[in-house]
Amino acid sequence: MHAIETENLTKDYALGFWRKRPYRALDRLTLQVSPGEVFGFLGPNGAGKTTTLKLLMQLVFPTAGRAEILDRPVGDVEVRRRIGYLPENPYFYDHLTAEELLRYYGRLFGLDRATRRQRAGELLDEVGLGAERRLALRRYSKGMLQRVGLAQALLNRPQVVFLDEPMSGLDPIGRRMVRDLILRLRDRGTTVFFSSHILSDAEALCSRVAILAGGRLVSSGRLTDMLAFEVKGWDLVVDGLSADALTGLGPGLIRTTTIAEGRYALELPADARPDEWMARCTALGGRVVSLNPLRETLEDFFVRQVGAHHRRTEPGSNN
Ligand SMILES: Nc1ncnc2c1ncn2[C@@H]1O[C@H](COP(=O)(O)OP(=O)(O)OP(=O)(O)O)[C@@H](O)[C@H]1O
Ligand SMILES: [Mg+2]
Repeated sequence: MHAIETENLTKDYALGFWRKRPYRALDRLTLQVSPGEVFGFLGPNGAGKTTTLKLLMQLVFPTAGRAEILDRPVGDVEVRRRIGYLPENPYFYDHLTAEELLRYYGRLFGLDRATRRQRAGELLDEVGLGAERRLALRRYSKGMLQRVGLAQALLNRPQVVFLDEPMSGLDPIGRRMVRDLILRLRDRGTTVFFSSHILSDAEALCSRVAILAGGRLVSSGRLTDMLAFEVKGWDLVVDGLSADALTGLGPGLIRTTTIAEGRYALELPADARPDEWMARCTALGGRVVSLNPLRETLEDFFVRQVGAHHRRTEPGSNN
């Protein structure tokens, strides 16, 4: 059983007015997501993430290939009842309050009156809008609307939930809230498929990711298994070291950067034992401020991949 499965899913948009040319937004995407997974769908602007989500929601139709959710074709009525969707730019009737909007959607889902009221209340609390529930949506900020969208996506207690950039427009507290919410959903057994262009969102949440660039899958699997994201060294920041003590640390440092009097950033090679270096620094009277693995960021990775995919091939060609 798969929560989500696509095979050679392809979408061409028609460009131009008089002479229509096909433009391949998604090129033969084959993907499987297991039940209960939190799956990150990563890629830079224009990669085809929203297109894929729209294909899964049947908001647009594929040029070729197929897609299934919960082992049924995407359009299946039973499937629709069991999924939730947060669009990229959620748009709502803005004269309604958040509470009215959720009750309205609850009616569309066929929930009875008592359940509608209860779920709307619970979800608004869960997304941190409990206090603003009676405010008209036109007075909401972008981040607040994003939260209403999340609550709406969860109203029918979906088995699989699709979130298109759920963190966009949110401040750090809001991002944290969405992260915690996604992890709670996972703990309840919900499958979460979300798109993002931010690596740290995926690192904090995902069992597996797929990376898309120029409409094509470039990589998929666990982030920790992806070669591009292997640790390339360590950045150790220490405080309270004298210049003498610093030279006493001995060879093996790739680079030393002075941040302030007595405070240094030490770059260690990938094969260094950071715990030993930290012990050495403390023995010399220093204090460890931070230790961070150095690796390629998703942004660097994209720049390389997008470079490689710069010439988007014409539909029909085979490379
Ligand atoms: N309706 C459309 N007609 C023509 N081209 C489209 C249409 N929708 C999307 N595209 C093109 O398809 C490509 C993929 O777009 P898509 O919105 O799926 O990207 P995305 O990965 O969601 O990007 P972003 O991170 O900016 O949201 C883009 O080059 C875009 O210009
Ligand atoms: Mg998008």
